[in-house]
Amino acid sequence: MTVELAPLPAPAAGAAPRPRIFSGIQPSGIVHLGNDLGAIRNYVMLQYEYEAIYCIVDYHALTSTHDPELVRTRTREMAAGLLALGLDPERCTLFVQSHRPEHTELMWLLATVTPVSWLERTPTYKEKKQYQPDDINHGLLTYPVLQAADIVIYKAGLVPVGKDQAAHLELSREIVRAFNNRYGDTFPEPEAVYTEAPVVLGTDGVKKMSKSLGNTIDILGEPDTIRKQVMSMVTDTKRILRTDPGRPEVCNVCQLHRFFGDDYEDVWDGERTARTGCVDTKKLLADRIIRHYAPARERYAELMANPGEVDGVLEAGADGLAPMAAATMAEVHAKMGLR
Ligand code: AMP
Ligand code: TRP
Repeated sequence: MTVELAPLPAPAAGAAPRPRIFSGIQPSGIVHLGNDLGAIRNYVMLQYEYEAIYCIVDYHALTSTHDPELVRTRTREMAAGLLALGLDPERCTLFVQSHRPEHTELMWLLATVTPVSWLERTPTYKEKKQYQPDDINHGLLTYPVLQAADIVIYKAGLVPVGKDQAAHLELSREIVRAFNNRYGDTFPEPEAVYTEAPVVLGTDGVKKMSKSLGNTIDILGEPDTIRKQVMSMVTDTKRILRTDPGRPEVCNVCQLHRFFGDDYEDVWDGERTARTGCVDTKKLLADRIIRHYAPARERYAELMANPGEVDGVLEAGADGLAPMAAATMAEVHAKMGLR
């Protein structure tokens, strides 16, 4: 289920608190265009109108990454990337999941209301089993219960994510319903919030853009890397000759132009009439992506050269959430007969 977001008026002094939103992102390497268009743009926009909490989910990452140094480095890279792309620690909370270990305690409690069959039928679990057949660890199965705990420990009602998270969000809702039925109304049912690009395809033009598929455009990478990645994109496969008309509605390059400039209809028209070739359209897209992310790339480099600043933001974020996490745990303990 998704919701339309209406702009909220600025809160007056003494007014009710802003509705709370939560999202998590895995520290799986440098951020890519799919992350930004599918989720991070919404993180940035929503921090102005909601009480926004954003989490780098290192516990989740351990289900697939087992190199401690890699987990540590990528966690900092992801934090620097999110800050560079516009998360403002004055307006939102950014923290690392393992710095608030209550998430894992709540996960256990939620696991006791979650039938195994719900987890076994989760599409991402089935995919992961195929993707890492020698490492079907228990964390892969329990993954969505931890995700539900992440969200509900702060009683967040809205969750900005890409469409690939729809099944996880639905499962979070089911887990909340199961908990509330057994122990009384405790958690709101979280709803997904999507951007205008809920699924961004990778450079292959077929599969979702994803680090693990190697089809990404690394927006904070070197301009040369971005250019190479964009120039490698698969366009309309039926446009063979330069003089053939293109079909912008099925061409991934044309689709991405919608997010980089107001003149995408003109770009599309050039393709349709064969006034421009695919190579021209890709070059233009590469230039625009490089230009659009230049300030973020600069800020990212500054932050990576100054890790103390990033670590300070993450520490303050986790500390600030302690009272909220403790309050939820106290309520849940009481309801479940634990204290
Ligand atoms: P992940 O890197 O899997 O933790 O994803 C972080 C966020 O980016 C999640 O909200 C995903 O749904 C979103 N996301 C990742 N890849 C894509 C994509 N190709 N298109 C749209 N959203 C995406
Ligand atoms: N599963 C999400 C992803 O792969 C990451 C995530 C973990 C998350 N906990 C969350 C997203 C809570 C939203 C809310 O992208």
